[in-house]
Amino acid sequence: MIVERAEARLAEAGIDTPRTDAEWIVAHVLGVRRSDLVAQSHKLDEAAVWALVERRARREPLAYVLGEWGFRRLTLTCDSRALVPRPETEIVVERCLELLREAVSGSEPQSRPRVLDVGTGTGAIALAIADELPIADVVATDSSAAALALARENVARTGLDVELVHGDLRDGLPPGPFDVVVSNPPYVRPEELASLEPEVRDWEPRAALVDEGQTEALARTALDVLPPGRHLVLEIHEERGDEIRTALELLGYAVRIESDLLGKDRVAEGKRL
Ligand SMILES: C[S@@+](CC[C@H](N)C(=O)[O-])C[C@H]1O[C@@H](n2cnc3c(N)ncnc32)[C@H](O)[C@@H]1O
Repeated sequence: MIVERAEARLAEAGIDTPRTDAEWIVAHVLGVRRSDLVAQSHKLDEAAVWALVERRARREPLAYVLGEWGFRRLTLTCDSRALVPRPETEIVVERCLELLREAVSGSEPQSRPRVLDVGTGTGAIALAIADELPIADVVATDSSAAALALARENVARTGLDVELVHGDLRDGLPPGPFDVVVSNPPYVRPEELASLEPEVRDWEPRAALVDEGQTEALARTALDVLPPGRHLVLEIHEERGDEIRTALELLGYAVRIESDLLGKDRVAEGKRL
C-alpha cells in the first residue's frame, strides 16, 4: 500500500514520524481525514502523493508540504513566507484571551478590548484571538511584506476581522492605546541556528527565527501604546526567563514568567506599572 511505501521513503530520509507524515500526505491528496484513509485509498492519485513525499523527504516542514496547518480552532494557509505556528504559541493566545476578558469586564459596557500582535507571520495569534473573542479589536503587524501577504490570505480564508499593518517594530507601533500587546518574536540565538532540525534551519524564514534584539526593542516601544495596568505578552526562549524578567522590570513592568507543557519558561507577561 502506498502509505507503507511513503513511510519507508520518509524513514530513509531521517524523518522522526514517517508513518504519521505519510498518512497526512496521502489523506491530504485524497481530501479526506486521516481516520478515513483506508476506506478511500482506492481513489488515490499516486503521482500527487509521491510529489509531496519527495518534498517532505527533502525535510520541508509537513505544514508547508500540506499547504495548511491547524492552530487552535483554525486551519491556516502555511508556506515558506512565514513560521509554522507552534503548539507552545497556543499558550500565548490563551493568556491573551484571559487578559482581554479581564480588561473588558472592568470597563464600560460595549467597549471593545484592543490587542496588537507584533510579528504576526501567518496571522496565527491575531486570528485565533479574533476567532475566540469576537468582541476584540485586533491589529497585527509584520516587517516582512511576504509574511503579511500570507496573513492577508488567512484573513480572507477565515473571514475574521483583523487589521494588518506593514511595519518594523523598531520604527514604532500602530497607534494605541492597546489592552494587550502580544508577540512571538524571533528568539533563536544566531549560534543555535546550525544545530536546529533541517525543517527549521533550511526552510523557515531566517527573519522569523533569529533574535536581533526584537524582544527588548518591543518591550521598550510597547510602553508608548500600553496604558498603566495593561499587558505585554511575549513568547520567549526557554533559557532567557531570568534575563527577560530583569529587562522588563527595569523598564517598569511587573513581570510573570509562565512555563510551557514541558515545564520550560515560555511566556513572559509584563503589566505596565
Ligand atoms: C517567530 S515568527 C512568529 C510568527 C507568528 N506570530 C507565530 O507565532 O507563528 C516572528 C515574526 O516576526 C517578524 N519580525 C521579525 N523582526 C521584526 C521586526 N523588527 N518588526 C516586525 N516584525 C518582525 C517576522 O517576519 C516573523 O513573521
